[in-house]
Amino acid sequence: MPRNLLGIRHLANDDIEELLSISADFKLRINEGREVPNLSNQVVGMLFFENSTRTRVSFEQAAYYLKMKTANFSAGGSSMAKGETFRDTVLTLRYERLNGLVMRHRASGSAALAAKYFGGPVLNAGDGQHEHPTQALADALTILERKGDIKGLQVAIVGDVEHSRVARSNAWLLSKFGADIRYVGPRTLMPPHMQMLPGEVFYDLRAGIEGADVIICLRLQKERMADGMLSSISEYASMYQINRETLRWANRDCLVMHPGPINRGVEVDDVAADGERSVITNQIENGIFVRMAALYWVFTTEPKPVESPPPAKTRPTRSAKAPARTASKAKKAVAGGKKK
Ligand code: NCD
Repeated sequence: MPRNLLGIRHLANDDIEELLSISADFKLRINEGREVPNLSNQVVGMLFFENSTRTRVSFEQAAYYLKMKTANFSAGGSSMAKGETFRDTVLTLRYERLNGLVMRHRASGSAALAAKYFGGPVLNAGDGQHEHPTQALADALTILERKGDIKGLQVAIVGDVEHSRVARSNAWLLSKFGADIRYVGPRTLMPPHMQMLPGEVFYDLRAGIEGADVIICLRLQKERMADGMLSSISEYASMYQINRETLRWANRDCLVMHPGPINRGVEVDDVAADGERSVITNQIENGIFVRMAALYWVFTTEPKPVESPPPAKTRPTRSAKAPARTASKAKKAVAGGKKK
């Protein structure tokens, strides 16, 4: 069976710890100019059917550090613009002998579908409102570096929860490791089946972020919103913006996070986005290392035998340079990498 990274919800805690520990190890090695595994016999397809800046570039950077080759694809410049189906496109990439796919698509569940058709490793770079596993990993690594532990943290996810795959992947990951999750925002931007997500809902910002250790701000995802969900952007900002004033309600050492892209003046002001509690730039940087770990993790497991014709068979063998995958816990790896 090829290994995929489709979401956080169904990932075992051991797998998440392994991914975080590999990420911390790669970060240390890159920062110290040391070697990382060489996956130069692997070609990964970058399929971005939706816009992306940081996720796409950090996957490219991650592949570059691992010496992988990338084959770029964008729906507009492909045969899909000529009417080719999603299935035929994915099968084409399989017969083109790509070894794996990184995929972003507006449809929830599309990454799992691609994994079914492709037969080799698929990494979900965001599927609709469903999951964005590597963003949650980057956020967890950032929290671990600053707080040392996830257990017992009060984490407030503020804003457009309904349309956010980042909210869902973060909620699954952080709750698996013992954080308390609060969702804060207007009723129209909360999913209809909130009881299916771990945590508590708050419609009042002050109540929701009082005593918070971490605030994850979300962008208003207008491209996924039906009309009428908000009476006005300025009303939303006056009720839910994280700014100099509202940040006072959270803990003094509360981290301000945002997956980007930021709409300054809407969900955050400049003080919250650029102030000393903000770890937004750390999230971006850590995005590279968790994506390196994710690529390494899916590409160094054995593929399932496939009927004709198989994806190219060049799997890297594990070398002495391979990071310890299970021995050390993520926390230890992160602590070991901290500058004293
Ligand atoms: C997010 C996404 O695309 O899911 N951004 C990201 O990947 N860093 C969040 C968003 O679009 O608001």
